[in-house]
Amino acid sequence: MDKQAIPYTAPKLYNMVAGSPAELMLHEEAIRLARKGWGDPFRDWDYEVLTMETDKGLVVSALAFTEDEPNKAIVISLGTTLQGYRKCGLYRILWTRLIEIAKERGLKEIHAYRDPRNKESTAMSKAFGREDFSIGSRYKVGAHRALPTINPIEALCGQGRR
Ligand SMILES: CC(C)(COP(=O)(O)OP(=O)(O)OC[C@H]1O[C@@H](n2cnc3c(N)ncnc32)[C@H](O)[C@@H]1OP(=O)(O)O)[C@@H](O)C(=O)NCCC(=O)NCCS
Repeated sequence: MDKQAIPYTAPKLYNMVAGSPAELMLHEEAIRLARKGWGDPFRDWDYEVLTMETDKGLVVSALAFTEDEPNKAIVISLGTTLQGYRKCGLYRILWTRLIEIAKERGLKEIHAYRDPRNKESTAMSKAFGREDFSIGSRYKVGAHRALPTINPIEALCGQGRR
């Protein structure tokens, strides 16, 4: 397939993932990532979504995001490009449009979270000039020494028990 020959429309913006033509694609990708242990199933049905579509209306790339008004930031929940259309610059087009949207809305930062084992996502993040700042924390149940059992009657806060 000559990817360059496919005519794409300009990025489109839908005000909600639910009911948009990108809905199924985002859910499918989220499930694929979740099966690898790299994220959660997609829950952000009420997020806005940017899409790249062919002139036949096939969504080939999608980026779901919301506004974090108090922090004056955009938060990306998930972005994906269909297999077979990757590394053609489609997601960069959406990213560029997202930066414009942030500017139009007076938002100062764009936040995104990813699993560091996700090589494609890490390469994309670096190529886009994003700066790593945090990925949260994870606790593996059963992998740690058990804490001493606390007698509920003794379990008073601030008693310097440990
Ligand atoms: C990450 C993903 C959305 C990138 O989509 P894409 O349309 O292929 O991205 P683009 O072609 O626009 O590439 C964007 C940049 O990332 C880099 N990149 C993308 N995939 C890459 C890969 N597999 N290896 C190295 N670099 C890669 C490109 O070099 C490009 O940089 P450039 O514009 O300076 O050349 C796509 O790989 C994907 O859907 N992955 C699975 C879902 C996922 O992991 N989503 C992110 C979860 S947070």
